[in-house]
Amino acid sequence: MSVLFCLENGLVWRFIAILTVANSVRSQEKDGDMILWINRCTLKVNWTIQTKLDGCVPNLYSVRLLKNNQEIATSDTTLTSYSFEGTDSESTYRVIVSPILECNNGSRPRGNSLDHSISAIPRSQQTFITKYISDDFTLQCPLNGSYTPFSVEWEHKIGIDSTIVRKFTTPEITLTDVSYKDSGKYVCTVGFYFCGGSGLLRKLTSSVSLNLNGPPYIPMPQQTVVADPADNLTLSLSLISFPAPFSLVLVRNQNNEIIHRSSVSFAPTEVKLSAFGRVVTLYGYSCRLNMPNITREWFGTNSIIVFNRLGNYSFSFIVEEFSDKENSIGTVYFFC
Ligand SMILES: *[C@@H]1O[C@H](CO)[C@@H](O)[C@H](O)[C@H]1NC(C)=O
Ligand SMILES: *[C@@H]1O[C@H](CO)[C@@H](O)[C@H](O)[C@H]1NC(C)=O
Ligand SMILES: *[C@@H]1O[C@H](CO)[C@@H](O)[C@H](O)[C@H]1NC(C)=O
Ligand SMILES: *[C@@H]1O[C@H](CO)[C@@H](O)[C@H](O)[C@H]1NC(C)=O
Ligand SMILES: *[C@@H]1O[C@H](CO)[C@@H](O)[C@H](O)[C@H]1NC(C)=O
Ligand SMILES: *[C@@H]1O[C@H](CO)[C@@H](O)[C@H](O)[C@H]1NC(C)=O
Repeated sequence: MSVLFCLENGLVWRFIAILTVANSVRSQEKDGDMILWINRCTLKVNWTIQTKLDGCVPNLYSVRLLKNNQEIATSDTTLTSYSFEGTDSESTYRVIVSPILECNNGSRPRGNSLDHSISAIPRSQQTFITKYISDDFTLQCPLNGSYTPFSVEWEHKIGIDSTIVRKFTTPEITLTDVSYKDSGKYVCTVGFYFCGGSGLLRKLTSSVSLNLNGPPYIPMPQQTVVADPADNLTLSLSLISFPAPFSLVLVRNQNNEIIHRSSVSFAPTEVKLSAFGRVVTLYGYSCRLNMPNITREWFGTNSIIVFNRLGNYSFSFIVEEFSDKENSIGTVYFFC
């Protein structure tokens, strides 16, 4: 405010004039939106127009379709969509939509045109998607352009060694209640016919890379350890966690009491995971959990609880009392 007070009149007016211009540019940009997409050999267009001209509404759209910059069709429509069957697989298509407005005072001016192009040449559009543990969703082979598929083959590759764990031959893959073993790269190869006269056969490969985020997961079987009171237990933990795990680790006994609380440091490591009958190697974390001087309340089934920003995971382990005092082994190590 104080700055404005110091300005001379001329400056203030220039300031306001600039603001007005910026504003009107922005409202022109927001006049409308148009999307073009191709489904097999058909080109489809949707648009929305918001006119900023007072008392005027769009009531007719004039659509021009150009193929490689040559006009091939024109039509007037009251709908906000248009489709064209019979694209070929070797051309670029351009659509220009000009709204014809109808104003309260009876005039019928033209609004600003929307103008977009799309290539019908089949090509891979590799994609990367991120989902959450337990999500359900469908994967489609990201191949853009105009073509008629006759076969789709998928390979699901996972882990540091890109191990192939599954194959599919459906056009889409529906994944439900996903877990870390569903992550990885889904490579698809589509066999297709060109649209248009040539009817050529072709194959193209593309892929969808799937990242999964979720609470930590410890891919180890339940462990049993034999110990005496006052023993020190050390456990090596390996886990998968996106995002990274918190340093807090809790141990809860079978009476639901928290009997241990540590702050550990997790180091990046490779973790083995069983996925669809194969053992694969993923990036994960490991730590050593030291639980000194255990007491009787540890005997029975305990759970180790690990956390990240997205939740927690409980891993159970059983401590059995060691009865043969003479062979007491003191510190017990057990590894995954
Ligand atoms: C295109 O518009 C139609 C009708 O307005 C609508 O049902 C459809 O969902 C739209 N498609 C896309 C991809 O926006
Ligand atoms: C009718 O109204 C529109 C929008 O308000 C205005 O742009 C146009 O000049 C008017 N035409 C006539 C003939 O008054
Ligand atoms: C490719 O197709 C996908 C899905 O239909 C679409 O989201 C994407 O924008 C397309 N890419 C291009 C470059 O047309
Ligand atoms: C457990 O560790 C503590 C300190 O690190 C040590 O004093 C104690 O002797 C150990 N107990 C056993 C049974 O090894
Ligand atoms: C281990 O725990 C017992 C019982 O809680 C206690 O008497 C003893 O001092 C503890 N020993 C160590 C080394 O902390
Ligand atoms: C672990 O997460 C569950 C919900 O998924 C929650 O009910 C539970 O309280 C959490 N446990 C701890 C120890 O935070």
